[in-house]
Amino acid sequence: MSFLVEIDDLKVHFPIKSGLLFDRTVGYVYAVDGVSLKIKRGETYGLVGESGCGKSTLGRGLLRLVEPTHGTITFDGTDVRSLAGERMRLFRRRMQMVFQDPMSSLDPRQSVESLLVEGLKAHDLHKNKADTQQRLRSTLDSVGLPASALNKYPHEFSGGQRQRIGIARALVLGPELIVADEPVSALDVSIQAQVVNLLDDLQESLGLTYLVIAHDLAVIRHISDTIGVMYLGSLVEEASADQLYERPLHPYTRALLSAVPIPDPRVEDRRERMLLVGDLPSPANPPSGCRFRTRCPWSQSRCTEERPSLRTFDDSGQRVACHFAEQILSGELKPHEVRAELVRPDVDTGVGAELIPTRTDLPLP
Ligand SMILES: Nc1ncnc2c1ncn2[C@@H]1O[C@H](COP(=O)(O)OP(=O)(O)OP(=O)(O)O)[C@@H](O)[C@H]1O
Ligand code: SF4
Ligand SMILES: [Mg+2]
Repeated sequence: MSFLVEIDDLKVHFPIKSGLLFDRTVGYVYAVDGVSLKIKRGETYGLVGESGCGKSTLGRGLLRLVEPTHGTITFDGTDVRSLAGERMRLFRRRMQMVFQDPMSSLDPRQSVESLLVEGLKAHDLHKNKADTQQRLRSTLDSVGLPASALNKYPHEFSGGQRQRIGIARALVLGPELIVADEPVSALDVSIQAQVVNLLDDLQESLGLTYLVIAHDLAVIRHISDTIGVMYLGSLVEEASADQLYERPLHPYTRALLSAVPIPDPRVEDRRERMLLVGDLPSPANPPSGCRFRTRCPWSQSRCTEERPSLRTFDDSGQRVACHFAEQILSGELKPHEVRAELVRPDVDTGVGAELIPTRTDLPLP
């Protein structure tokens, strides 16, 4: 199976401006800082991680809605970052985005028809009225909405229906890739499954490729073929969905998974617990070496000096960015009490790297 998307060493750094006219760059927010991943055509790549770790920026950088600072993006064999003007516009149609909150991404003053036609016009796909009507109706049908929805406005729909409109707006252009940024997080739990199933069905019938961003591991597992775990601007682990749940290798992944409740009480009682403590360090001032070291119960002195690369762990294809993944898995390296470091000195008081006592409910296997 071929790859539709290949991202290599992608970086998106936002300058931090200062001065009276904001003309001085005093630093950068390293929102995405060296991400490489590939997405197979027709598959779903799920991206998880804490708030602020750079998931949305990665999705937006991939579509060039924000201009990357560095790296290459290959879409269906074409170097997207080298495209400009008309050629980029033609590519844009093939890569669409679905947002978290349909209410804020849909203009409340526009009817559904006008929302959908807008995209068609922008891409010169609005040729004649009859064709467009046909296209709108079949798109709405594919997302489970009646043709009568065309004359209504976003506020006349429920949250789930509005997300269907958001999906229809992307679909009407006939894209190959959809980047769905937290597509169900704003919805009631009872509605989430319906929208996830809709995305699944559309993928099957239209052969779509997805990059789905979510912080909810249950959602991501259900929908993803491959999952990438992001921490402070880069991937720390990547595996097939089943493999990741069966054998999480990176301490951060283990912490994330241990926070997801398992419905079976027998499994729930026996399972490892790892409480992640300390806040996510600032992406403007990331820790040296391994970025997870300030919260990692296994960190060693090497972790301060050397940033681990995302390496292939074994022939399962699982990739992990940890110097000690083998020793942690075998139990050779024992966890220690973590004391999360406050890596960003308090600017006002000048108090430096203060230590916050932390807790880990260990041992782990
Ligand atoms: N346009 C911007 N200018 C400056 N900083 C930005 C900009 N967009 C995002 N950031 C910063 O980049 C970092 C990553 O943000 P991003 O929105 O990608 O995270 P996220 O993983 O999507 O978080 P969430 O789960 O809350 O949506 C954050 O520190 C954020 O404040
Ligand atoms: S490299 Fe070190 S600090 Fe980073 S996850 Fe592995 S053991 Fe922890
Ligand atoms: Mg986001």
